Amino acid sequence: MTQSEGAGEPTRRDFLYIATGMAGVVGAGSFAWPFIDQMRPDASTLAVSSIEVNVESLEPGMSLTVKWRGKPVFIRNRTEAEIEEARAVALADLKDPAARNANISAAAEATDLDRSAGEGKENWLVMIGVCTHLGCIPLGQAGEFGGWFCPCHGSHYDTAGRIRKGPAPENLPVPVFSFVSDSVIKIG
Ligand code: FES
Repeated sequence: MTQSEGAGEPTRRDFLYIATGMAGVVGAGSFAWPFIDQMRPDASTLAVSSIEVNVESLEPGMSLTVKWRGKPVFIRNRTEAEIEEARAVALADLKDPAARNANISAAAEATDLDRSAGEGKENWLVMIGVCTHLGCIPLGQAGEFGGWFCPCHGSHYDTAGRIRKGPAPENLPVPVFSFVSDSVIKIG
C-alpha cells in the first residue's frame, strides 16, 4: 500500500500544533505536555492536592498553564474585548448550557460571569485544559471563537471556555480555586 501524498500533510500540521502548544506554556507551568501526558503521574504528583500560583505578572491578554493533579490548568487574564464577546452570546446559542464551575452550584448556567472568577474578577478564567471530547490539550487564543481550539478533531471553545463548535460535548471545566491574595490563586 502506498500512502497518498496528502496523507503526509496532517502529520506535519499536527507537529506544528504541538510545537505551538509547547511554546505557549510559560512560567511555573513550563512542561512538555505531550511527553508528560504519556507518563503515569507519580506518587508525589498525586499527593499535591492544591497549588498556589502567583499571577501578578499576567497582564490582560496573557495566559499561564500550570500543572495540577497531573493535568494542565489554563489561567487567563482576559481582555475587555474577550469578556464583552463572551457576554454578548445568548445562552440559547450554547452547546453546553451548564457553567461546569466547581465553585458554584452544579445547576448554574454558563453565563460569562459564572464561568469566570466572579464579581470583580471577571477578567480571570481558570479552567482544566483538557478537551472534553477525547482529552487533547486545546490551543489558546485560537479557533473560530477566539478562545481555545482543539486540533485533534476540531473543537472550538469561546473566550469563556465554552464549547461552541465541534465534537466536544461540554465546556472546559472550572476547578475549585480561590484568590488567596490579589495576585495569588490557589487551585484545589
Ligand atoms: S479531543 Fe478535542 S476535539 Fe477530539
